[in-house]
Amino acid sequence: MRNSCFSLEDVTDSVCGMPDRRVRLAVVGTGYVGLTTGACFAHVGHHVVCGDIDERKVALLNDGHIPIVEEGLEAIVNQSRAAGLLEFVLGAEAAVADADIVFLCVPTPQGDDGSADLSYIQQAAAQIAPVLKPGAVVVNKSTVPVGSTVAVERVLQRDDVFVVSNPEFLREGTAVHDFLNPDRVVIGSADRAAAERVAELYATIDTPILITDPASAETIKYAANGFLAMKISFVNAVAAMCEAVGADVAAVVDGIGSDQRIGGQFLRPGPGWGGSCFPKDSRALVKIAEDHGYNFSMMRGVIDVNDEQLERMIAKIVAAAGRVGGDLTGVAVGALGLTFKAGTDDLRESPALAIIAELRQLGATVRAYDPTTVGELTPHQAVVLDGIEVVTRALDVADGADVLAVFTEWPEFSKIDLDQLAARVDRPVTVVDTRNLLDPVLVREAGLEYDGVGRR
Ligand SMILES: NC(=O)c1ccc[n+]([C@@H]2O[C@H](COP(=O)([O-])OP(=O)(O)OC[C@H]3O[C@@H](n4cnc5c(N)ncnc54)[C@H](O)[C@@H]3O)[C@@H](O)[C@H]2O)c1
Repeated sequence: MRNSCFSLEDVTDSVCGMPDRRVRLAVVGTGYVGLTTGACFAHVGHHVVCGDIDERKVALLNDGHIPIVEEGLEAIVNQSRAAGLLEFVLGAEAAVADADIVFLCVPTPQGDDGSADLSYIQQAAAQIAPVLKPGAVVVNKSTVPVGSTVAVERVLQRDDVFVVSNPEFLREGTAVHDFLNPDRVVIGSADRAAAERVAELYATIDTPILITDPASAETIKYAANGFLAMKISFVNAVAAMCEAVGADVAAVVDGIGSDQRIGGQFLRPGPGWGGSCFPKDSRALVKIAEDHGYNFSMMRGVIDVNDEQLERMIAKIVAAAGRVGGDLTGVAVGALGLTFKAGTDDLRESPALAIIAELRQLGATVRAYDPTTVGELTPHQAVVLDGIEVVTRALDVADGADVLAVFTEWPEFSKIDLDQLAARVDRPVTVVDTRNLLDPVLVREAGLEYDGVGRR
């Protein structure tokens, strides 16, 4: 049974107080993980100061604007600020001075050799080292390779400070719900008392807490992401097989997913996994294993299947354009969806953008719509979407299109008016549905052709 305090509906009306257990926390980095962590810990009654080096982000947050799309986040940020439990400041140092426990939630992007780049973590650790309170606990919530707890200790050079690993498993799009209703909390520490201080922060959240050594906690995070990526690659490979043998992947997924040993989640075929975590974490997992003398060939295969899946989607679009040789000069592609999945504005490592980049390389022009890019583009969006014509209504992508493609599973695309869509193209064109979101029968009834993933 989950603690009834933590449904998203409840988030809209109250801050769940636990004043007798209130701890002063700092969160370094206010991105998807840091902002959610800070807001949720404030929501359960702790006092949280969040620091970020991005002046624009801090200014937006202090003006009451949430810089990312994340369901329920705005409500708990506003409530917690109004209750005096959540503050935003510029810089890591300013955030940590009074904190008993400090969460590092900074990026760990992919380095040149596939390993995780720890420079943000090291920089943040160096910034906070001189100002940390004696006895403070520093928590790595960023996804960091095995040995990072010790690496942070080395940068801090503070014998009076403990470093603990507490990897985060939230999903973008449901980050608040996931943080407040986790399947488990993992805490890795060489010091039991420090681990228990971190565990106590989650006291009002009804979930198993696993206390491990740091290396196991760090491995759990990568192994979890690797396994989830494997499930998606597996179902994409099965979808390719379904196309070859004439089977229907939806029926196959029903058939295998209802086996409780397998489970139906993460068995949805698509254009390949992407986003800010799976691509970098799967490669880092291979690299960590390699660095320790193990050839994780299964994970290499998972990555290869994902690369193949992107190529398969590109081949479908090329075929739909009738360009057997692959030259797409003069071909206009109408794209529905840009983000790596629905429910988020995150464009990092989006399969949609990888496919679009390749289509443009082959000579196509691309007109795209996404519900998160209808307003003024942020500086980041403007850079990433440079060269793509971004429109503000879904149906507009069809004007003059030679091929249509569904890249993101936004619910509004499943309800799109197919007759109007068909009326906007000059001739019957194919909809390449990389998410199996649309009903093929209805698409064809509207006068369009249909090509999905692993189904007819
Ligand atoms: N995004 C997810 O779904 C997710 C889920 C679980 C774990 N993670 C992991 O959590 C970590 C953070 O991911 P994210 O998606 O929240 O990243 P993000 O890029 O959205 O946010 C990181 C923030 O850290 C700030 N920052 C960088 N250096 C700083 C410093 N020295 N002081 C203060 N702020 C600093 C940046 O300005 C940015 O706002 C990564 O290791 C990631 O792998 C992410």
